[in-house]
Amino acid sequence: MRSALAVIEAEHRGFATVLRALQRHLVPVREGRQPPNHDLFATILAYADTFMERFHHPKEDEYLFRALRSRTDEADGVLRQLQHEHASGPAELRALQDSLKTSRGGVPSDVAEFAARLERYIAGQETHMRLEGGTVV
Ligand SMILES: [Fe+2]
Ligand SMILES: [Fe+2]
Repeated sequence: MRSALAVIEAEHRGFATVLRALQRHLVPVREGRQPPNHDLFATILAYADTFMERFHHPKEDEYLFRALRSRTDEADGVLRQLQHEHASGPAELRALQDSLKTSRGGVPSDVAEFAARLERYIAGQETHMRLEGGTVV
């Protein structure tokens, strides 16, 4: 259990670095100083998809949360919320990727929508990992 937690913690630290990179590239877009670097955002979001949705979240759902449930029922409510967020994550990421594609047209409202969606995605992922940190890890 301890080594599994160490792996999850290390993955959270790695993903926090990815989120900071997204935030750094988002700032000039939000401030209207430069258009989104589409290839760069698409690459980072594809990495987030593979890493979190296909690798990290299933490991938490199938191993870590199950192990915690077998020990106590005190965290059941939080675990339900975390698993709900895992389940809704792929659709949220798809919408963000679609919004990025739409913003390629350069229409200011489309760029603003992508920036706002990305901001919400970053904040949501940070909150999710903080909640896991306080509950599981
Ligand atoms: Fe998670
Ligand atoms: Fe996690």
